Amino acid sequence: MPKDPHNAQVAGPRHVAIIMDGNGRWAQARGRPRLFGHHAGARRVREVVEACPGLGVKYLTVFAFSTENWKRTQVEVAGLMSLFRRYIVKETRTLKDNGIRVRFIGDRVRLDAKLIDLMDTLERETQENDLVHLTVALNYGGRDEVARATKRLARDVADGKLHPEDVDEETLPRYLDTRVLPDPDLVIRTSGEARISNFLLWQSAYSEYEFIDTLWPDFTAAELERLCKSFGARDRRFGAVPA
Ligand code: FPP
Repeated sequence: MPKDPHNAQVAGPRHVAIIMDGNGRWAQARGRPRLFGHHAGARRVREVVEACPGLGVKYLTVFAFSTENWKRTQVEVAGLMSLFRRYIVKETRTLKDNGIRVRFIGDRVRLDAKLIDLMDTLERETQENDLVHLTVALNYGGRDEVARATKRLARDVADGKLHPEDVDEETLPRYLDTRVLPDPDLVIRTSGEARISNFLLWQSAYSEYEFIDTLWPDFTAAELERLCKSFGARDRRFGAVPA
């Protein structure tokens, strides 16, 4: 069986990606504004990151803001952007001191200069860390990422750096935002919705999926542990037949 080389030593997932859904409903159920749910959701990110080393999860990727999320009300979008800025300022020291390397994926063009500056600083401040690689998808869409990657690839072809005949399925990933990351082994979506909403489209071709009912602000380290264990019991074949 062609085991994923990243998983050769451990039974659990090495890269977990999470669609953190349900913040709005969680807040509404408490009669509070949607942003109250996003703040509760942001606190959960820390608990989940802290659980990763004990579970053998080296890479954690979280979907914080999609290319489609701009369609939300101006109040919610502005509130989320302010939350991201405050989160980075507040968490930089802890992330740095706890061995977490942070990266951002997504298109930065629509983000404000202050936020981009904070993102650059956090990436730089944590670049020596290697305990857990936390990737935050911000203004991220899978199709947008593939389109941007294709544009860069086409430029290299136009500049004579790449020959069209040499383009194969190893080529495009080198142009994706995730180029330094392994593909996710396990993709989790909270809040009962069973769709992938444009998240890591290329990268999750062979990922296992877990769609769970828990709303993101209620997600716990214990639930992550349960999902990691259940992943370990699965037989991943990558298209091959069992040995
Ligand atoms: C989806 O819930 C969640 C979001 C669009 C935002 C996710 C952001 C966070 C969890 C907080 C910040 C994260 C970091 C890394 C600082 P929803 O609003 O669609 O919920 P609903 O489906 O119940 O309306």
